[in-house]
Amino acid sequence: MKTQICIIGGGPSGLLLSQLLHLKGIDTILLERHSREYVLSRIRAGVLEHGFAALMREAQCGDRMDREGEIHEGFFIAHDGRLDRIDLHKYSGGNSVIVYGQTELTRDLYEARERMKGNVIHNVEDVHLNDLASDAPYVTYRDGDAIIRIDCDYIVGADGFHGVSRKAIPKDVLREYERIYPFGWLGVLSRTKPVSPELIYSKHERGFALCSLRSQILSRYYIQVPLEDSVEDWPDHAFWAELQRRLPDEVAGRLETGPAIEKSIAPLRSFVAEPMCYKRLFLAGDAAHIVPPTGARGLNSAASDIYYLYHGLVDHYRNGDDARLDGYSDRALARVWKAQRFSWWMTTLLHRFPANSPYENKLQETDLQYLFSSELAKGSLAENYVGLPF
Ligand code: FAD
Ligand code: PHB
Repeated sequence: MKTQICIIGGGPSGLLLSQLLHLKGIDTILLERHSREYVLSRIRAGVLEHGFAALMREAQCGDRMDREGEIHEGFFIAHDGRLDRIDLHKYSGGNSVIVYGQTELTRDLYEARERMKGNVIHNVEDVHLNDLASDAPYVTYRDGDAIIRIDCDYIVGADGFHGVSRKAIPKDVLREYERIYPFGWLGVLSRTKPVSPELIYSKHERGFALCSLRSQILSRYYIQVPLEDSVEDWPDHAFWAELQRRLPDEVAGRLETGPAIEKSIAPLRSFVAEPMCYKRLFLAGDAAHIVPPTGARGLNSAASDIYYLYHGLVDHYRNGDDARLDGYSDRALARVWKAQRFSWWMTTLLHRFPANSPYENKLQETDLQYLFSSELAKGSLAENYVGLPF
């Protein structure tokens, strides 16, 4: 097979890029390791910044998001038994975020790719990237006993943190920066009315908690748990009891509980690989960087990579201009690091760090007090949460 761009990974990054390029007449083949059902069963992000929403509309995939997604102009931070609101709209100069699940967004992208007869191949095994340093790279994968070869101009590695693309870059070229946090998030999805119409991020001495939602009948909750814990340690009743303990009384009192329809634990990690390209390979999204989910930046950072890469590839094919493609890694990384900083800061502000000294705990409390005493600090939080410009 032959194509212009071979995209590895059928998560939001790969699908969005393939859809945007298709609309500009650029041909792609997308390889995904799992089935579509499996990809759509993963419950992940819920908060989209407006830049991402604009890109979804440009990809002709924004209709359902605009119909069913909820615009949120603020969120709450719970601490010391009370709720303080961050007015995103006021402090970000009129911006907001859209609450629309990654599952739904991915479904919209798959449907668009299908409608436009995009070449999306599922259940591929043993993907290999070959001859990256030449002008004629190619990708191979196994389909049963057959090895299939795809010749292309460029390869895009959008295959998530555990994918093969990043590992294809020589070790002496790639520099990796990493921070592992000593806890994870236990997430529960339940068909219950959300406890609050806006998100609540809760700092509590027992650990962090987050009340989020997918719609007015579907709630998403998280609690900070030790890394050693597994889902089996947390039957539904134990989860709800612990969540209640970490919320202000008034909120806990109106929490509606019900059976978990999904329950999973995600470890928290910060990670960046530099550069985000090697010869004819470009990395995008979680393949190149990971953030702890506290600032809701992961998927949104993937979207900004796709924005830069999309424009670079369009300039290359349409105008023969490689300036934006050559500058891709530097431009993407500049924004990625800002999302890293913000996610690290929000994680540090709101979680319980078991090894913290009393001094560090005091600093953490002071950081929160400062936030709510300063218009500028609230402005900084809001500006980052709604998304810095691409
Ligand atoms: P992925 O979604 O990981 O997709 C990569 C795809 O590549 C996968 O489908 C995988 O199967 C496939 N693949 C892997 N290896 C191969 C291979 N060898 N060959 C072919 N295919 C392969 N972000 C936000 O912005 N806001 C939030 O509110 C938010 N909340 C989150 C909550 C949780 C609990 C978690 C875990 C994450 C959250 N994120 C959030 C982060 C967000 O989900 C990710 O950043 C996003 O999924 C990245 O998309 P991606 O397409 O780059 O990678
Ligand atoms: C979610 O709804 O899954 C969600 C929302 C906000 C975050 C992280 C996750 O910061």
